[in-house]
Amino acid sequence: MNTLKDRVEKLHIQFRQLLSEARGDASIAQIKAQFLGRKGELTSLLRDLKNLSPAERPEAGEVLNRVKNEMESEIEEALLAARQEKQKKSFEEKIDITLPGRRIPLGKVHPITQVLERATAIFFNLGFEVAEGPEVEFDYYNFEALNIPRDHPARDMQDTFYLSDDILLRTHTSPVQVRVMESKKPPVKIIAPGKVYRCDSDVSHSPMFHQIEGFFVDSGVSFADLKGTLTVFVHQMFGEETALRFRPSFFPFTEPSAEVDIQCVICQGSGCRVCSGTGWIEILGSGLIHPEVFRMVGYDPEEVSGFAFGMGIERIAMLRYGIDDIRLFFENDLRFLRQF
Ligand code: FA5
Ligand code: MG
Repeated sequence: MNTLKDRVEKLHIQFRQLLSEARGDASIAQIKAQFLGRKGELTSLLRDLKNLSPAERPEAGEVLNRVKNEMESEIEEALLAARQEKQKKSFEEKIDITLPGRRIPLGKVHPITQVLERATAIFFNLGFEVAEGPEVEFDYYNFEALNIPRDHPARDMQDTFYLSDDILLRTHTSPVQVRVMESKKPPVKIIAPGKVYRCDSDVSHSPMFHQIEGFFVDSGVSFADLKGTLTVFVHQMFGEETALRFRPSFFPFTEPSAEVDIQCVICQGSGCRVCSGTGWIEILGSGLIHPEVFRMVGYDPEEVSGFAFGMGIERIAMLRYGIDDIRLFFENDLRFLRQF
């Protein structure tokens, strides 16, 4: 009898030892099978009970059943503890494999740059090369060489930021015409995109804005070439169905001169606030290059002729995207910029 009781007690100690080392449900289940399963070690001792004498049986049975019950509740406790441990761990690690991955924010091209690039691509396909000029410019290139002498009233058209008597922030991209023609023989077919500056600020005027200058000089270039080029540009930029018109105008460096209007993209020409009820919106100035400008750069106006135009990029972007305040482009409000 002592021997059976000893064996049971020893078995229980072994059981507890294994259980204390067990990690996780699976190993606990394995221990349960090893001791309490159909072929388990305690189960087989229970089965041996019937071989004992009727006198020994009650006490042995009592011991075996007590240990069996204890083992069963110890298994339950171990399972519960294992489950809690697992929950605690996953809570601490906060790993949720069902969460989608984090997106890396992607930058976008500014709407003004998008329009600049699109306009540049259209003219590139028409055979224009890209040139650049300085933003800090001499009075000579910005005005004088463009047939605008110092006392000419046309200087009032552009309120200028002067840095000194003869140095200024360029008020348009037209000085690039002069710089290119000074250094190159005709034919020249150039566009010059860039920043320009004017002392000017309201819903449609900004002190810094962008222009694209374009000019083509060769023998026999006519106003028809200008019309053809700008018509292709407007159709590619605003759509084939967009109407345009050439309206007589004046620039000291072109003769004849014309401003180009497109049919208002907001109201389709019926008249609205954006086009001041006229149905048309000015997008650029243009004309045939003045003979005096050719003489200043050393071209012979008897041998060559050419057209030139200059457009405001912000104006075009406002029309393309239906934006009614130019200042939105420069505030860098992400809620605005994300829409492009
Ligand atoms: C000129 O600047 C001439 N150099 C254009 C030109 C080039 C004529 C070649 C003939 C031959 P104007 O001052 O009109 O012209 O400006 C051209 C365009 O710039 C305007 O149609 C307008 O779209 C834009 N613009 C003018 N001032 C501002 C401003 N403060 N803010 C934003 N856009 C402006
Ligand atoms: Mg104008």
